[in-house]
Amino acid sequence: MFHPVDLIIRKRNGDALSAGDIHALIDAYTHGKVPDYQMSAFLMATFLNGLSSEEAAALTESMLHSGIVLDLSDIPGLKVDKHSTGGVGDKISLILAPIVAACGVPVPMISGRGLGHSGGTLDKLESIPGFSVNLDIPTYREQLRSLGIVMIGQTDEIAPADRKMYALRDVTGTVECIPLIASSIMSKKLAEGIDGLVLDVKCGKGAFMRTMEDAEKLAKTLMDISVAFGKSVVAWITAMDQPLGYAVGNWLEMEESIRCLQGEHIEDLMELTYTLAGEMIFLGKVADSPEEGRYLAEKAVSSGAAFEKFVQLVDIQGGDVHVVKNPDSMPSATMQETIHAPEAGYVYSVDSLSIGKAAVQLGAGRRTKEDTIDPTAGIILHRKEGDYVHPGQPIATLYTNQHVHIPGVAADIKNAFAFSKEKPEARPLLMNRYATIL
Ligand code: URA
Repeated sequence: MFHPVDLIIRKRNGDALSAGDIHALIDAYTHGKVPDYQMSAFLMATFLNGLSSEEAAALTESMLHSGIVLDLSDIPGLKVDKHSTGGVGDKISLILAPIVAACGVPVPMISGRGLGHSGGTLDKLESIPGFSVNLDIPTYREQLRSLGIVMIGQTDEIAPADRKMYALRDVTGTVECIPLIASSIMSKKLAEGIDGLVLDVKCGKGAFMRTMEDAEKLAKTLMDISVAFGKSVVAWITAMDQPLGYAVGNWLEMEESIRCLQGEHIEDLMELTYTLAGEMIFLGKVADSPEEGRYLAEKAVSSGAAFEKFVQLVDIQGGDVHVVKNPDSMPSATMQETIHAPEAGYVYSVDSLSIGKAAVQLGAGRRTKEDTIDPTAGIILHRKEGDYVHPGQPIATLYTNQHVHIPGVAADIKNAFAFSKEKPEARPLLMNRYATIL
């Protein structure tokens, strides 16, 4: 006889659970036979006592099989996806997916919405008028076959246990737990029907993992699960201390991504995009090495093939192609305010957590689950780490349509900048790489 309370007590006492125990619990919870209060207790016991790698694999497997697992093997090519653990200004997926697809590697991407201070690919895609992220599975498959790229949101059919458990974790203080994050991410990614996965594990002030030690543990846990399921995987640990690129906010990031797809070189953004794209093209076996993959990725941008693939993606998913080809035709937010440097010196740091939170205040993210996103709200940075400023020079501009207390948010943005007399040493963006190629 299955008694959820017995499993909770065993996990609370630090005992190991069997794969059968975990499966029974997740199955019962998915089907409404275990109430939220018992799952909350189990999540907290897990948060406090952790999971062994066997338990984490069993949890992932149970969550994965709580819904359908797609089989894309009838579609030619090795299907490869990328997943980031979440950051501020992280628009890499918007630029990278069309690049990789233009190089001939099919990209079946299922993304998430913004979470707390960190942005989400779905909200950014939906900032294009008309763009639909809600495709049914037959349409998802057909588009992947015909266009080589599809970008959608999670459906009720894919990993429903994660959807329920994530909502509970968000309100029970159990988000920042390595085995729970890893099983949540991997259950969704494995359900997509991919052959290989590139992981961007963020580390720093604006990331769930603040220290290198934790980021490495998360990368290792994600990789162990991927390998246990027979998927080649590359993980990069990358810095998330300052926002990526200059734009933070959904349409602002989309517009910056369009410029990058058209060939503009924004250093941190394109360095990370080309590195991760190179890895995906390598995992897709279109290149013999990540370096060759990167070369192909750069060529896809300079030839215009990546932008063309992006336009086709927007068109097929119902988005306004005119706006994408003419970003200036999109109306800006009605209220704007520019923030100026208070002193002379070098920008020492730009705190991505504070910038992400300020963007949420302006309407670019959700404070409650019911909030609607304002696609044009956000922040454009004019200066980043290592740049010199004179007093009174612009350092950032905020955009909003909401009746927020603009002077308060402007002060938060100003406080996110720290200055120094000496030029700070440049910190590496790409920190550590791990790979297991099967
Ligand atoms: N992203 C996810 O999908 N799940 C987590 O638990 C954290 C980040």
